Amino acid sequence: MDPRQGRAFVDGERTLVDRAVFSDPALYQQELGRVFARSWLFLAHETQFGRAGDFFTTFMGADPVIVTRQRDGTYRVLLNSCRHRGMRVCRYDSGNAKAFTCPYHGWSYGTDGTLIAVPEERAAYGERLDRSEWGLAAVPRVETYKGLVFGTWDTEIPPLREYLGDVTYFLDVLLDPDGQGAVMVPGVHKWRMRGNWKLAAEQFAGDTYHVASTHLSAVLAEPGRSDEAPMPTTGFQVAMSGGHGIGGLDGFDYWRTAGFSEEVCEWMAGLADRAERHLGRPRARDAVFFHGNVFPNLSLLFIRSNLRIWHPKGPDAMEVYSWAVVPASAPPAVRRALLLDYQRHFGPSGTWEQDDGEQWHYSAGSGDGFIARGLPLHYRMGHERVPQASFPDFPGSVDDVYSEANQRCFYERWSELMAVPHPAEFRDGARPGIGTAGGSVDAQVVAP
Ligand code: FES
Ligand SMILES: [Fe+2]
Repeated sequence: MDPRQGRAFVDGERTLVDRAVFSDPALYQQELGRVFARSWLFLAHETQFGRAGDFFTTFMGADPVIVTRQRDGTYRVLLNSCRHRGMRVCRYDSGNAKAFTCPYHGWSYGTDGTLIAVPEERAAYGERLDRSEWGLAAVPRVETYKGLVFGTWDTEIPPLREYLGDVTYFLDVLLDPDGQGAVMVPGVHKWRMRGNWKLAAEQFAGDTYHVASTHLSAVLAEPGRSDEAPMPTTGFQVAMSGGHGIGGLDGFDYWRTAGFSEEVCEWMAGLADRAERHLGRPRARDAVFFHGNVFPNLSLLFIRSNLRIWHPKGPDAMEVYSWAVVPASAPPAVRRALLLDYQRHFGPSGTWEQDDGEQWHYSAGSGDGFIARGLPLHYRMGHERVPQASFPDFPGSVDDVYSEANQRCFYERWSELMAVPHPAEFRDGARPGIGTAGGSVDAQVVAP
């Protein structure tokens, strides 16, 4: 496969997408370098770390990493792969550690990644092991936005705030509605699903369209659902530079429609008033029922108090890490109601989650068949149509709720990145860094 063919899988008008992007093993391998190693990737929320040595293990693309809080309050992100044989040096989901000792032969690394102890070092290596060259690989850039911790292997892409760009306008509604921030409810839901990670990311970016079909039975079975207040059908899609997308419905008092208690409804109404003062009226009033995706694989659901990341696990599998996120100012009863609302709809016990998972399960491998492989997929909804939606204060490019503009924006960014090989890809049969003393991380993961 020509390594410069990324654009060939999304046509010039970006209204057709080749099924290979969801199933081709070679494209998947390219994606790990060209997309994931070149993007800011969400890692964790700051409220998951209380003190120095607290850690959380996750992934950056397919690379396992440990996020650790340092004594000075900063975060260090380490590749969770021993430099001796590649064993995971930390096999816990989270905890507190003074050091990470590899279970295999016992090499021990400080929370900053430094190789600090090697069992039987003198007998095994004499004076020949230069520990300073064999620390855990460290992610070179770690930055935060409103409590979200991100990292990137790329030393050249813009700072995080610039990378996020206009999508912060909407992120703030979830992360800081009233100036008091948000907290992650302790505990992370994790599960694996069949389906390429992009099936999920693009759906969250811009597919409000699927709700009435995919989730119809779940909507009809909602406890407390009021037939007098049907789901609205007007709203917006917002495509933003960088491949980010937000979509949602407007004019919708979700809390009363869904039958929440008077206490919750009143508190949420008060939050909306405070949000209007803090964020301004347009996003505090209109952007309240939305879903979205921060390119490449961080998704959010405002109304369901949810943040999640789609970890790629091969061309047709993904692993989801999902958190409930609630306003820090929410009293216990409201916090509990929001958590239950999230769990009832999303996460492993959620009806909507299972609805979506079924669609992705049976969409997976749609390009495996010989005949199906030749039939591109249709991404033309709303293309070359003048939008009726009017949200003059929203940033980005605003379209009607029934539009695939956000998906086209997502694949435009994806194909831009996929068109340029990552310098660390195999070239001429050799990989940069191998054969050099220590094989420094900088040598193996270099800027494009
Ligand atoms: S694999 Fe880690 S010490 Fe050998
Ligand atoms: Fe859905």
